[in-house]
Amino acid sequence: MSEQHKEAAGRAAVDYVRPGMRVGLGSGSTIRYTILEIGDRLADERLVDIAAVATSAKTAELAEGVGIKLAELDGSPLDIAIDGADEIDPALALTKGGGGALLREKIVAAMAKYFVAVAHEDKLVSALGETFPIPVEVSQFGIEATLYQLGGFGKPQLRTEGRNPVESENGNYLVDLAVAPIYHPHRFNELLSTTPGVLETGIFVNMADIALIGTDDGVELLEGV
Ligand code: A5P
Repeated sequence: MSEQHKEAAGRAAVDYVRPGMRVGLGSGSTIRYTILEIGDRLADERLVDIAAVATSAKTAELAEGVGIKLAELDGSPLDIAIDGADEIDPALALTKGGGGALLREKIVAAMAKYFVAVAHEDKLVSALGETFPIPVEVSQFGIEATLYQLGGFGKPQLRTEGRNPVESENGNYLVDLAVAPIYHPHRFNELLSTTPGVLETGIFVNMADIALIGTDDGVELLEGV
């Protein structure tokens, strides 16, 4: 992985943003470059009148810092959402939530007419779960019971910082679920999502329209199958 690959992919996504758009901004280190690029284009007026819905406090702070106007997510669709990913499979199913923002990221991505995933090439996998545990947002209530249930899918690990469980910005716990490679992500996600205690999963199926991948040879465009 090179930081340049990440930066190239993150910045390239802004070519899909047009003046006047309402934009969903994901979270993480790749989307940081997208935010910086939107800021650059607003500064020299290549872009104007952009309103952004942020998926985390960090993204909101960064966006405001570069002059992007923030908007609330309401009941109207966003023109575009752009976000990073932890894994991307050949059909553009994604694993997300390494940064813990998966619930807001999924709500925002689902409201977007067009969803662009940005990543460097090491994130490409032949099946989700290959290189990264699946992040799952779960209720604090009954956490031991939910961990037990998640044991039916793989090896769940409560995300902690020191001795304390990490809380998402929604006040829930996060579990990282190590699994065997997932060849049917839609079905897997259905089963995982309907497990009691699970509030949201980091599996994003049939959501990304394209992925922009930073490689040694430039930014590669992938389309879902
Ligand atoms: C945040 O919760 C995540 O979904 C990120 O979008 C994902 O982890 C990718 O992050 P990086 O761009 O930092 O790799």
